[in-house]
Amino acid sequence: MNFLTKETANPSQECVDCIIIPVYENGVFSVSAKQIDDKSSQELTNFLKIGDFTGKLATIEVLYNLSNIVAKRVMLVGCGKQDDFDIERFQRCMTAVGKALKDTTVVQVTSWLGEALDDQIGVVRETVLGLSGSAYSFEYYKSKKDNDAAESSVSVEQVTIVTAANDAYLSQSVGVAEGVELAKNLANHPANVCTPAYLVDVAEDLSNSFDAVSLEVLEEAEMEELGMGAFISVSKGSKLGGKLIVLQYNGADKETPAVALVGKGITFDTGGISLKPGAKMDEMKFDMGGAASVLGTVRAVASMHLPINLVAVVAAAENMPSGHASKPGDIVTSMSGKTIEVLNTDAEGRLVLCDALTYVAKYNPAVVIDIATLTGACIVALGHHISGLVSNDDSLAADIMQAGDMCCDEAWRLPMNAKYTKQLKSEFADLGNIAAGGGGTITAGCFLSEFTKDYTWAHLDIAGTAWKGKAATGRPVPLLTQYLINYSC
Ligand code: BES
Ligand code: MN
Ligand code: ZN
Repeated sequence: MNFLTKETANPSQECVDCIIIPVYENGVFSVSAKQIDDKSSQELTNFLKIGDFTGKLATIEVLYNLSNIVAKRVMLVGCGKQDDFDIERFQRCMTAVGKALKDTTVVQVTSWLGEALDDQIGVVRETVLGLSGSAYSFEYYKSKKDNDAAESSVSVEQVTIVTAANDAYLSQSVGVAEGVELAKNLANHPANVCTPAYLVDVAEDLSNSFDAVSLEVLEEAEMEELGMGAFISVSKGSKLGGKLIVLQYNGADKETPAVALVGKGITFDTGGISLKPGAKMDEMKFDMGGAASVLGTVRAVASMHLPINLVAVVAAAENMPSGHASKPGDIVTSMSGKTIEVLNTDAEGRLVLCDALTYVAKYNPAVVIDIATLTGACIVALGHHISGLVSNDDSLAADIMQAGDMCCDEAWRLPMNAKYTKQLKSEFADLGNIAAGGGGTITAGCFLSEFTKDYTWAHLDIAGTAWKGKAATGRPVPLLTQYLINYSC
């Protein structure tokens, strides 16, 4: 899908298959709707009089061959109350537009949907993300195209956005969309394909595609030497070797401290000896969603040449039960020197992450953000709309939440204090890997915070947001890239 922007255009003269025009609740015309109405001798007014279409938020009506209108189709998009229309509602409308385009043969569209919004950069981003998202499908493993699916695929090739936003923001948005697509693909692949070694291959692709990106991979032997007993306690149950993948993106001068992203890359989480129940276990192929979002963000940042330095660490391993697997009660020593009693082998994410978080300190990062499908408890707390956030720094937490709000990829901060950390007490070691009592997302965050005391840190729990149904969402690539864009300014 190809995207263009232009500052102004006359909707009645636009020579494309479909123009996208906003209409507010109770049939209140937008500027472009008024232009179409005037030019077509009030055909819009007459249509609205019938009463089927009222401009309710995210409703769609397509009108064909209006008099004196060059475009064959006028897609009216209900935007709700004019005063309430904002970027979040815009996003919902764009999703509806994407769906509506699926049943058409439309190839070129021009959109006026965001004409009234102040946030023109958001209009560009959400148009690009919304329409490329609706065109996305994951059909690598279907031997022949599903007939139903084929019928409803999007044929749009050319999208023109009428906006005051500078062209630079278009390439930025396209970068984000590519990052989202990479993250979705990685997470959607099954665990017999998307293994730790596969994630290494993808990281290698990134370092080959972008001059500013370089790669280093630590194998289990090297991790053992570094004393990463927590990481190894997870990966040793699998036949597949665990990998610590380190990508560096250099967009600023060498002295500038980097932002570090650390992703949980459990390519399949069976629970280990503390085996998970069978229902929905297939979804644990998505347990590398954090890693996918880190790789997607590297891609986005590199393609938009952001003037920052970035260190991206992926802790990639498979959590399997076997004769080599860790057992409940095993005690391991992490790279930090802290000992951990593995009371539940299903709390494996924090074990691979704690060593990755200790390791990343050697880059003296300005900020560290880890991203993980860490706790089922996060779904209980926040459902599937908002990611969980835990941080040791108020201003970093505020910046992350603000970035999320800006791009409709929200995060919400949970508290953290010594009372929760106490719940992680172990009879025999410095820390248990699970906590007594409630607040599972918070106590998981507290566990990680024991390893992040030397730097400014935040943790995103994406257990509820990394996938929806059986499909990866690509979240939180938009949030992370937005945070980094803001950081670079
Ligand atoms: N990957 C899971 C968390 C998860 C579960 C994400 C369901 C999305 C959906 C994680 O490794 C895990 O198993 N966490 C346990 C922790 C518990 C043993 C303290 C959980 O949430 O049940
Ligand atoms: Mn687990
Ligand atoms: Zn897991």
